[in-house]
Amino acid sequence: MSHPMISGQPTSTPPKNGTFAKACFFLSLAFVLLPLLQTNAEEKPADRLDRFAREMRQLRTGAIGYPVNQNTDLAEFYEWYVDSKLYEVSMNNVGDPQQPAIMTLNTHEFENEVIRFFAPLYGFSEKEAWGFVTHSGTDGNMHGMYFGVKQLLGETKTLPICYVSEEAHYSIKRVADLQNLEIRLIKTDKRGRMIVSEFEKALDPSKPALVVVAMGTTFKGAIDDQNAIDKVLRDKKPVAIFRHLDAALFGGYLPFTDYKDLVNRRVHHFDSIAVSGHKFFGFDEPMGIFITTRKTLKNTNPFKVPYLNGAVPTITCSRNSLFALKFWWKIKKTGLEGFQKQARDILVNAQYLEDQLNAIGYGAWQDDYSNTVYFRRPSKAIMKKYILAPDHDDRLGGDLAHVIVMQHLTRGIIDEFIRDLKAGNPSPKK
Ligand SMILES: Cc1ncc(COP(=O)(O)O)c(C=O)c1O
Repeated sequence: MSHPMISGQPTSTPPKNGTFAKACFFLSLAFVLLPLLQTNAEEKPADRLDRFAREMRQLRTGAIGYPVNQNTDLAEFYEWYVDSKLYEVSMNNVGDPQQPAIMTLNTHEFENEVIRFFAPLYGFSEKEAWGFVTHSGTDGNMHGMYFGVKQLLGETKTLPICYVSEEAHYSIKRVADLQNLEIRLIKTDKRGRMIVSEFEKALDPSKPALVVVAMGTTFKGAIDDQNAIDKVLRDKKPVAIFRHLDAALFGGYLPFTDYKDLVNRRVHHFDSIAVSGHKFFGFDEPMGIFITTRKTLKNTNPFKVPYLNGAVPTITCSRNSLFALKFWWKIKKTGLEGFQKQARDILVNAQYLEDQLNAIGYGAWQDDYSNTVYFRRPSKAIMKKYILAPDHDDRLGGDLAHVIVMQHLTRGIIDEFIRDLKAGNPSPKK
């Protein structure tokens, strides 16, 4: 019998007979595995972690293709955390933060203050607002859609149809699927906005409508026209309506800009909003905010859980305590004016980037309220260096890429990016 490796037919099971063949098999296995074990033995765990941290920190500033603020600026928080020895305590925010908890090892008091800070920024009165610090934007969307379905079912005893633009984030489609909802994906124009006349055609007034508004689509940063959507709903009068705003990225900075009305419930009458924490606000891990009304909360029919003191409205049981603490700390450290400055800076820099791209003949698109700049896709090498996200739209000439201008994207990096584009792609066409 030939050697399993030499014969070109490596196998993970030893041959059935022949002592010599078996010995050969195990010898060759050792030959393959030994160097791997040696590499691991050579690097101490602490060294490996250090190497990993160095690599991540090197990638950090050049990462401009995803909506994450890499200026996390959490050193003081972590210093306090270590000094206070809070890491010795395992906390859990399980339950409704606004209800007294039996399991009091939590940060509910900070969580409530975070929600009280944001509720008026999104046009919720203190009295009507209910919310919590989520695990992500998707977690917020999941709660918005689940609560929306519950409310609409409560009002009509009929499962709603979910309407959302086809360029909205995939989490909407995923959550609709999870809830076995019929979803109607509404066509978008080439700038990524829901075509409202298509929504009008798709809307079935005999069924309740769960409308998810894209407050900044993932790739183009498009915002659906809430006034036009409202008009359709007013005219066609579906039996019941619930509006959820997916404001994962834009919900972070818009309240601090001249475009704040776009995420104001008093102006646009939405019922719930989901925002990611790690996008605009700059955290070192995913988190978010979800806010809705007490009226909606009442309809969620929370299951009574005696060991947790009654009702748990959230889908997940255990919830992270540190998120709320970090969020609270960030609000105190940055303040309203700090967020306003950051929001102004990213929009000014987004405009600068668009101008620079156009100046070198790279067709670029960006809206005044948006920190997302998209353009013809550059070379693979440039995509890799700047960790750029790809997309494709024939209406805009085919392959595209985008930069999301976050706080860590300085003029210096933009200029370097433009220089690289000029060198790496000499004759771009608009
Ligand atoms: C528009 C939109 N909604 C939802 C999400 C999901 O947010 P998260 O990553 O916080 O779950 C994203 C993520 O990029 C997004 O762009």
